[in-house]
Amino acid sequence: MTDLSVLSSLPDDFLWGAATAAYQIEGAVDADGRAPSIWDTFAHTPGRVAGGDTGDTACDHYRRWPEDIALMRRLGLDAYRFSIAWPRVVPRADDRVNQAGLDFYDRLVDALLAAGIRPFPTLYHWDLPQAQQDRGGWPVRETAERFAEYTAVVAARLGDRVTDWATLNEPLCSAWIGHLDGAMAPGLTDLTAAVRASYHLHLGHGLAVQVLRETVRDARIGIVNNLSPIEPATASEADRAAADRADGHVNRWWLDPVLGHGYPEDMREVYGVDLPERDGDPELIGAPLDWLGLNYYFRQIVADDPTGPAPYARQLPGPNPDRTAMPWEVHAPGLEQLLLRLTHEYGVERIHVTENGAAYRDSVSADGTVHDPERTAYLEQHLAACARAVAQGAPLAGYFAWSLLDNFEWAYGYDKRFGLVHVDYPTQRRTVKTSGLRYSDLIAAHRQR
Ligand code: FCB
Repeated sequence: MTDLSVLSSLPDDFLWGAATAAYQIEGAVDADGRAPSIWDTFAHTPGRVAGGDTGDTACDHYRRWPEDIALMRRLGLDAYRFSIAWPRVVPRADDRVNQAGLDFYDRLVDALLAAGIRPFPTLYHWDLPQAQQDRGGWPVRETAERFAEYTAVVAARLGDRVTDWATLNEPLCSAWIGHLDGAMAPGLTDLTAAVRASYHLHLGHGLAVQVLRETVRDARIGIVNNLSPIEPATASEADRAAADRADGHVNRWWLDPVLGHGYPEDMREVYGVDLPERDGDPELIGAPLDWLGLNYYFRQIVADDPTGPAPYARQLPGPNPDRTAMPWEVHAPGLEQLLLRLTHEYGVERIHVTENGAAYRDSVSADGTVHDPERTAYLEQHLAACARAVAQGAPLAGYFAWSLLDNFEWAYGYDKRFGLVHVDYPTQRRTVKTSGLRYSDLIAAHRQR
């Protein structure tokens, strides 16, 4: 049992939220002028996604959003993090804006505000329009420029009501998993393409920040990174050096440039790929932000791996037998550690935990409930870790559980359920899990204190 008395350290105006992403929940991939994204292509390529699953229907949120907002109200959420699908807004190579795609987010935002829930849109959660991939995708500069144009369109439409914006979700995954490991769209295994993609993702972020500053009054802008504390497997010099490289690959490459410190020199050497830098880029990429989003799932324990792929560090299973269905090691102290690092080493002044959660094998019981004690324990442990960090000075302003709903878990398909709300895919019936009920009790208790 986690001692939750520490939750009293969370600020009075702490934002309690939940998160989702467009391709993982919306379905309706052909509706109202949407065109395919790289994830439609990837999911429809045999062998790429477990069980041959695709996001074609997902949670049918595109049609069921009123019911989903009602669920958010039932949980008592203050804020909802979702992503806007670029392939709905600027679907095709002709670059024409698809107003019907924008209408969906317009209605969603209005309904959220009417329900007293603050919208936190993310402009890019991995669903690059396939048309843009066909022009070269993130390895080319033009994609960053097109991203800024798309951002301008969205900001012009929603910026009168939405103040909290995230540019990118986990650019690490887009670049490293999408272009180096090949386990996510577009499925490449090419270090040069991956490093260039990372650069243009950052440039796109910087250009989008500029557009948002120009378009949205009082905008509060952030970027969402997935970070991991890194530990060497042994005290050997080789493993400690591997841990430094892994830290560069997973954390510093993604933090340093967007926080105005430029790319880490040691990692430039590790990759040995010239960055396509131009004058003025570092200032754009490092332009001041209002908050930083932290997605936390696991720590990494690494050993030297001289013959493996960059960064020549192999990830070993963590020692804690407590694992989720992914099967990621459960290690809540890692969240506290990262929050303190962002606070003390990077001087970040406002942080949101924009994702944190766990997949378990849930099922609906005969009495219609979904009893998920492991997820409840996970949630409590990680909220306590947040509160401990706050007690030590971390400027944590909000927590968004991943995820509101069970959904399409990328290359793992529908088999991995992360929701506070269970989705029975054949009927699309939603059932709040006991973890969701617990979350809503904690929210209510925080409000009443
Ligand atoms: C993160 C993604 C999110 C979800 C969780 C489990 O990497 O941002 O979409 O898949 O992992």
